[in-house]
Amino acid sequence: MIIIGCSGEVNFAKRLAKRLNCNYIGLYSSRFPDGEIYVRFLKPVSKQEIVLVQSFYGDINDKLIEVIFAASTAKELGAKSVTLVALYFPYLRQDKRFKSGEAVSIEIVAGLISKYVDRVLIMDPHLHRRNSLSMLFKVHAEKLSAYPIIADYIRRNIANPIIIGPDEESYKWAQTTAEQIGCEYAILRKKRFSARHVRVTLNKEIDVSSKTIVIVDDIISTGHTILETIKNLKKIGAEKIICICVHGIFIEGAFEKILSTGAEVVSCNTIPNNASKIDVTGLVAEGLSVRKSSFEK
Ligand code: R5P
Repeated sequence: MIIIGCSGEVNFAKRLAKRLNCNYIGLYSSRFPDGEIYVRFLKPVSKQEIVLVQSFYGDINDKLIEVIFAASTAKELGAKSVTLVALYFPYLRQDKRFKSGEAVSIEIVAGLISKYVDRVLIMDPHLHRRNSLSMLFKVHAEKLSAYPIIADYIRRNIANPIIIGPDEESYKWAQTTAEQIGCEYAILRKKRFSARHVRVTLNKEIDVSSKTIVIVDDIISTGHTILETIKNLKKIGAEKIICICVHGIFIEGAFEKILSTGAEVVSCNTIPNNASKIDVTGLVAEGLSVRKSSFEK
């Protein structure tokens, strides 16, 4: 197995290769002046099991093209198999036609990726209205979940926590995390008006006295969901608040905005950012080794 770091997560890929005791190969990737993407493997890939490690934040569409070019070229050059490890996979929130005429983006993107790779491992995909990745991908696709590691982080570092899920979509992971820690949890109700306008309401009484509030969500993007949640929790007397997410995208100054409320922010290292305190390298390494054998059967 050879680990290849795509542009979104070169350092993670290098650490992963070290952990798995595998070779690491760089993928040279650049942009022509007109925006076209260029990729080149820096070492031979023929007869190898290739693992492309990518995280789709920022220039998401460029990163998708980079993966498609790399996967297709690896196969053309004789690679035995191509696996995509997506630390953060995009377009999963557009999983239905909310308004007539809209593209169901995730179906198109998953269909496209399925044409070029043999298997996909995705770290905490935002699966809300689809129960599993196999409903989207036409190749072997599995999810890896950071919630046990998040629960462990909370258990070790945070005294007297109460877990808060900011919306109904966070129900599964807030509940699982709380159950693993053995603490209370509550799920709030969110109404989304647009990408930057959400309203979060408390739908039950929560006793926050002497508790550390731990808001757990899969993604923090613009931060509006978390900021609204913090505002509501402060109204009922919450003092110490820690926000934990798997994927810290933190666009439009989200990280600084959340810090300015006095809350702490922690994320997993699926996207490079200043809050990455929870390392998921071991989880990905385990996912690749365990699933490699079952995949081969
Ligand atoms: C949505 O369902 C997700 O679980 C997150 O709550 C959402 O993506 C966060 O987005 P933002 O930070 O832009 O409010």
